[in-house]
Formats: sequence, structure tokens, C-alpha cells
Amino acid sequence: MIIAVDGPAASGKGTLASGLARHYDLPHLDTGLLYRAVGLAVEGREGAPDFEDAAIAAARALDAAQLTDLDRLTAAQTGVLASKVAVIAQVRAALYDFQRDFALRPGGAVLDGRDIGTRICPDADVKLFIQADSKARMERRARQLEARGVEVDRYALYHQIEERDARDMLNPHGGFYKADDAHLLDTTLLGIEAALRAAIEIVDRTMALKAGGP
Ligand code: C5P
Repeated sequence: MIIAVDGPAASGKGTLASGLARHYDLPHLDTGLLYRAVGLAVEGREGAPDFEDAAIAAARALDAAQLTDLDRLTAAQTGVLASKVAVIAQVRAALYDFQRDFALRPGGAVLDGRDIGTRICPDADVKLFIQADSKARMERRARQLEARGVEVDRYALYHQIEERDARDMLNPHGGFYKADDAHLLDTTLLGIEAALRAAIEIVDRTMALKAGGP
């Protein structure tokens, strides 16, 4: 079973995807980490004439070992960098195989990102598109960062999220839109547990329908 979870920054898709992976005992790939690792590899080179080439080379050389430094990878500023390398078509192409190989593991997988249901796994068994209002997303991300002892400027964070959303939605190579067969789940008013219960219900219902059940 392949489950595709897409949605904007801080929509709760990562938490939901890892909850689904635990519930169905499937491996989980947060594909944002791939773009974040590429972003970190070219940190400080923005505006340089070779920025794109460096990002493409970093994407081609990406190694799973680069996905472990979660403190640096999940920093808000790294998210902005990630969205800048994510607009480069060759970067996306270089990361395609890594994601596809993960998705095609025997037994299935849960992947979360922006283009899982549209480009990476258009054939996924269940697709979820997670949505939440941008103030709620900012507040959640702020609390996550504060729980890790990071001081948060909410105004700056709100703008970072908006900037990233805009770049992702306008990315001509991004594939970031709700697939026709994706189920929309708005988590604005849902806590983690309620959102996970709703997602599990959607997955179970979809799989039962596929199996020809009630
Ligand atoms: O999901 P996360 O917020 O960690 O992703 C960081 C950035 O990576 C996104 O803002 C987006 O620009 C890019 N991304 C993407 N396609 C994906 C996952 C992430 O373009 N499948």
C-alpha cells in the first residue's frame, strides 16, 4: 500500500504521515528533507552565477547520510533555501529516483511532500491533501520550534511560511496541487490525534472500497 500525503508548509502533513506509517507499519519518507539537504549543501551561494549548477550537482550526489542532522535540516531558514532549489527542474529530476525507489519497496510506504500524489506516486493507493489556515500553521511551527528551545519571531515566521507557500504554488516544475483523486483534509481545527483518526478513516475506507467492500 502506498500512501501519498501532500500539503503546504507546517500543515501537519509530516506528523500525519509518520502517524499513518506507525499505524500501518510502513516505512515513511519525508521528501522535504531531500530538498532541505540540497538547500543546505548550497547554503550561502544564493545569487552566485553557479547556484543552479551547484544545486543540481548536490541533488545528484545526495546520500541518505545527509538526512540525519535534523536540527539543521528542519530550521525555518533551511525550508526557505529548500524552496529555492526546488524550483530547479533538474534538481527535482535528480531526486525523483530516490523517492520512487522508496515508494516501490515491497510492502509499501508513506511519503509526504508537495508532489507525491501528482508526480512521484500518481498511482498511490490513497492520496491525502492536507490543508490548514496559515495562521494556524505558523502557530504550530512556532510551538514546535519553542519546544526545542528555539526563540521564535512569529511575525518573521509567518512571512517565511507565506513566502515559501507562494514559491511552491507558483513553481512551474513543482506539481503542487491537489490531485483529482486526493482526499482533502483540513486540519485547522483538529489536534494531532483527531487529524490522525480522520486520516486513518479515509485510508481504511478507500482501501475497503478498492477491495470491493461496503
Ligand atoms: O515539506 P517541507 O516543508 O520540509 O519542504 C521544504 C521545501 O521543499 C518545500 O517548501 C518545497 O519547496 C520543497 N519540496 C518540494 N517537493 C516535495 C517536498 C518538498 O518541492 N515533494
